[in-house]
Amino acid sequence: MVQQMLLNKQEIIRLLSDEQHEQQLWEQADRVRKEAVGDEVHLRGLIEFSNICRNNCLYCGIRKDNKSVCRYHMTEEEIVSTAQKAAQMGFKTIVMQSGEDMYYNKERMSRIIEQIKKFDVAITLSIGERTYEEYKAFREAGADRYLMRIETTDKELYHKLDPNMSWQHRYECLMMIKELGYELGSGIMVGLPKQSIESIADDLLFLKAIGVDMAGIGPFIPHPQTPLAKEQGGTLELSLRTMAVMRLLMPDINIPATTAMESLHPQGRIKALQAGANVVMPNVNSGEYMKLYELYPHKPIEGFTQSDIVKKIESIGRCIGQGYGSHQRKNKI
Ligand code: 5AD
Repeated sequence: MVQQMLLNKQEIIRLLSDEQHEQQLWEQADRVRKEAVGDEVHLRGLIEFSNICRNNCLYCGIRKDNKSVCRYHMTEEEIVSTAQKAAQMGFKTIVMQSGEDMYYNKERMSRIIEQIKKFDVAITLSIGERTYEEYKAFREAGADRYLMRIETTDKELYHKLDPNMSWQHRYECLMMIKELGYELGSGIMVGLPKQSIESIADDLLFLKAIGVDMAGIGPFIPHPQTPLAKEQGGTLELSLRTMAVMRLLMPDINIPATTAMESLHPQGRIKALQAGANVVMPNVNSGEYMKLYELYPHKPIEGFTQSDIVKKIESIGRCIGQGYGSHQRKNKI
């Protein structure tokens, strides 16, 4: 059995703050990752199928009030055929992500899920806050996992950054998703304006307390067409330390090397894979849509077939996961 570390808040704060020994922290997380989940890196094919969003999160490039975005949503046929292509390329998980676009109502979304399910893939949804009935219908249609970041557990900060949204409601959505038997993914951004190290420590303890199956942690990157354009943003190093501590706290969960890390450094995802991460989510959209789904600037635009991510993964002694890459619990929580 892999021992999870029982770090308290003070110890987490110390690890997050210790720039001098960060290399040791990353190496420790890498060892814990190897022991708990092995050397396989699971690839998820990401389809960003709509950049239309009813929300106005201050940090996000596709917020409703950003009038410079050229909005798109893919048709049912486009989404299904993109998923089919991804499945033929060998992806065993399809992640369907979009802004909160109500065009994809219960019926339409369920139909898409049912069709994609025929390709023998696991399906992850990342489409935001919905009703219990919708979550239930999507689950029954065949969705396996759901991804929704809590973004921050600092409620005051959350309400400042996500106007007209409720932290409590988001939390309740996460609980509904869990109750319906989805594998639950959540996560946070690192380096939000006025976010303290203590608050990040609280975030990590929160993700552990709700028992996530997957935790996505990435730096906040200011987008020029948002109210936070002039903010500093998060660093790669603090994001990697945060991700590494997450691995120590929950050794057997899935942790993606996030694209936002790659935006800050050309080897960002590889560094993440060597500091606790075991999942990569390459984009399988066409280049045109990829450019329009800009949550933050300098997002790497790569076609998966042309990308060297597989070679990079193998060059650091890791292998590509052949199964669905579901979370296998090794510890009783
Ligand atoms: N920088 C980094 N991450 C961002 N996200 C949204 N906007 C940004 C940004 N400017 C993240 C949020 C969201 C996920 C899909 O992308 O955490 O949940």
